[in-house]
Amino acid sequence: MRHDAPASIRALLGSRVPGHGFPPAVYADPGLFDAELEIIFRRHWIFVGLACELPQPGSALALDVAGVGLLIVRGADGVLRGFVNACRHRGARLVAPGQATLRRILCPYHHWAYDLEGRLVAARQMGAGFDPRAHGLTPVHLRDVAGLLYAHIRDDPPADIDDLADAMTARLAPYRLDDAKVAHEEDVVEQANWKLVIENNRECYHCAASHPELCASFVTYDFGYDPASLTASQLAEAERHEARIAAATQEWEAGGHPSAAIEHLTGHPTHFRTQRLLMAGDGESQTRDGRAACTLKLGRLTRSDLGDVHLWGHNCWHHVMADHAVCFMIVPLSPTETLLRTKWIVHRDAVEGRDYTLDRLTEVWKATNRQDAALVALAQSGAASPVHVPGPYSPHTERQCEAFAAWYEQRMQAHLGASGSTPRLVARDDGRRAFA
Ligand code: FES
Ligand SMILES: [Fe+2]
Repeated sequence: MRHDAPASIRALLGSRVPGHGFPPAVYADPGLFDAELEIIFRRHWIFVGLACELPQPGSALALDVAGVGLLIVRGADGVLRGFVNACRHRGARLVAPGQATLRRILCPYHHWAYDLEGRLVAARQMGAGFDPRAHGLTPVHLRDVAGLLYAHIRDDPPADIDDLADAMTARLAPYRLDDAKVAHEEDVVEQANWKLVIENNRECYHCAASHPELCASFVTYDFGYDPASLTASQLAEAERHEARIAAATQEWEAGGHPSAAIEHLTGHPTHFRTQRLLMAGDGESQTRDGRAACTLKLGRLTRSDLGDVHLWGHNCWHHVMADHAVCFMIVPLSPTETLLRTKWIVHRDAVEGRDYTLDRLTEVWKATNRQDAALVALAQSGAASPVHVPGPYSPHTERQCEAFAAWYEQRMQAHLGASGSTPRLVARDDGRRAFA
């Protein structure tokens, strides 16, 4: 049964006990899911891909997110632009999902043609009064953050994308993610609500038991622990790690590599957290032995001990290391299904078989993704059951789940009208549509 009346959505959003997981319907309700697509995914900046996937004029990347086809194109002028991937005639999809190289954007239906900047340049038999200038592709806001592409579908994008850009440009510029390449890409459809996928990513409470490959390089203490529940030797290990990361952070920053944690969570429209993390073992990379998977370092890096620059957003997470980066994005498909898209990035000149092997490059996160997919499906099976009573997040190891849940509630409430009504589509004077 649908519960899409605005009042029921508002009631659902207000029904979480702080410090606890969401009530069952928040992971299953179709009406709430539709409102989330509109508010969280079309009215907030979302990660959509990498600039290096569009290396030259005419490069294009198409993907579907939140019921909208997005088309990113590098124009003849070299500028990346975002559009709605739908013809302005009768809406046909212009470019199939994935990467393409285009000379112009030709609609397969009645052959209207657009240039690489989105202008309509050919439309046959439309009559003397037809104005091609009024029928260019619908633009979508696009922001290149040090090679990570973020899109905002509706008008009035939050200005605090500048905070994300400032923080990440300082951290990622030496890695030249804009001049790298995607060595491998994997899609996994997880049988869980998108929020369970994000919650799972925001804690490592489950890591030791479930992620043997990841734990070879990942230090779970970084995301909190309860000193009272550790053995004396574990506590000593945790304290040694804290001392090491404090010293490394100081040394990295002194060397011009910003590293301290920055958290823009509740109170910020654009949700992100970043920190340069120290990896375990040899500390070079998220591989099974902690050593680099690619012999060529990213960008203009000369040292391999720069840790893992991690970045979280509300639809993504990233790990950027000296030898490679792994970028993850999620696309909600239904209240109970979420696409997880993972991309492994190496230096543009790295050659498979010489500088890296796909097996070694991808094995840790492929295994971790599989393990996480199983865990979130388990969580969905009970968390969305109508009789489930949500338990508390650990105040030590799941603080970031609470931070995400609180951000989500705040952003949903901010976009629901005072009356609790969902946004209404209205026509504007310039012919575009906007939500009122
Ligand atoms: S729908 Fe594209 S030309 Fe008709
Ligand atoms: Fe996990």
